[in-house]
Amino acid sequence: MTSDLKHSAGATAQLDVDAIRADFPILSLRPHGKPLVYLDNAATGQKPQQVIDATSAFYASQNSNVHRGIHHLSQLATEKYDAARESVCRFINAPDSREVIFTSGNTEALNLVAQSYGGTFLGEGDEVILSQLEHHSNIVPWQMVCERTGAKLRVIPIDDNGDIILDEFEKMLGPKTKFVSLIYVSNALGTINPVKKIIELSHAQGVPVLLDSAQAAPHMPVDVQDLDCDFLTIAPHKMCGPTGIGVLYGKTKHLEAMPPFKGGGDMIISVTFEKTTYNRLPFKFEAGTPNIAGVIGLGAAVEYLSAIGMDRVAAYEAELLEYGKKALREVEGLTFIGTAEERTATFSFTLDSAHPHDIGQILDGEGIAIRAGHHCAQPVMKHFGVPATARASMAFYNTTEEIDALVEGLRKVNEVFA
Ligand code: ALA
Repeated sequence: MTSDLKHSAGATAQLDVDAIRADFPILSLRPHGKPLVYLDNAATGQKPQQVIDATSAFYASQNSNVHRGIHHLSQLATEKYDAARESVCRFINAPDSREVIFTSGNTEALNLVAQSYGGTFLGEGDEVILSQLEHHSNIVPWQMVCERTGAKLRVIPIDDNGDIILDEFEKMLGPKTKFVSLIYVSNALGTINPVKKIIELSHAQGVPVLLDSAQAAPHMPVDVQDLDCDFLTIAPHKMCGPTGIGVLYGKTKHLEAMPPFKGGGDMIISVTFEKTTYNRLPFKFEAGTPNIAGVIGLGAAVEYLSAIGMDRVAAYEAELLEYGKKALREVEGLTFIGTAEERTATFSFTLDSAHPHDIGQILDGEGIAIRAGHHCAQPVMKHFGVPATARASMAFYNTTEEIDALVEGLRKVNEVFA
């Protein structure tokens, strides 16, 4: 890494953001002749040179299939692939790297659990609890499995800050509850859910809990042993890693009890037309040639983040949140959508003067990238009675100057639509 980013003892230690930014080549682009202000990190994050290098080095000098060849390149690719699993294991503090499964993305990891666990263990009249904050990827797979099994979805409502109502969760948790699947951090609002409390309450009733940490793992330390979650999913492309790769963590006792999600090569010990014996964990859930370059890139990404320290990332982003809350309040006609006390540096808002898509378009002309729309979380939009919001979502390489640029850009929107 170009910068001296040794893990610091102080959680409030400042990051050397200039040095960090120098690691990200894309941040020096000038779209429409303006410096890029990239505030669409909840959609996907940018990649440091270290990740780009690890991925291209694989294709340039290591490319081969894994777990199949005895030749030099295959051994090398296998070593790199397996080392990346160990890096991810350390990053989430999983007790055993066999509990870390590579998928094609966060969405596939959620579908894997819904289809394999839900499809096996849910039945008529059973209940699965989700929240109104869920991304569509943690709603639709459960609806599909409920249609097949006769199980029902229960939904924890949210209040007008965008917090889930814990009392309502406690009321719906009962003998019929067979699974809780919850977004850790809302992609649309940034709300950080009280996941430890939810896991504690669920476990008291013997109910397993999945955490969708797509929007949590890029912003804070995630420790599966401390959380005691049963499953956890990760979206590597939102945390410096490549697209097309995902992670599912699961406790061994669950993964052992679940049938494979997909059949094919690498997930078997032996195959005859009469019977197939499945491979051990994690390979049982990794059918076919995996995204080897993606896994190696992910390994480089988690090493990069670990060298900075996720506690320092969280502390720095908390400062961006406070700065952004104050600065954006000064914009005339701006209404925050989602004001939870515990949240990441994600600002969802509307402007009286313009539709979110028009806001996005004017800001784009200023070199500022945000997302406008329903953010694949239509039930959240429904709660707030809006079809869409504008969303500026920060990462550890963003700066207060970029928030100032956003504020200026929004003033321009107000002028244009006055
Ligand atoms: N789920 C991603 C987002 O929130 C794509 O933008």
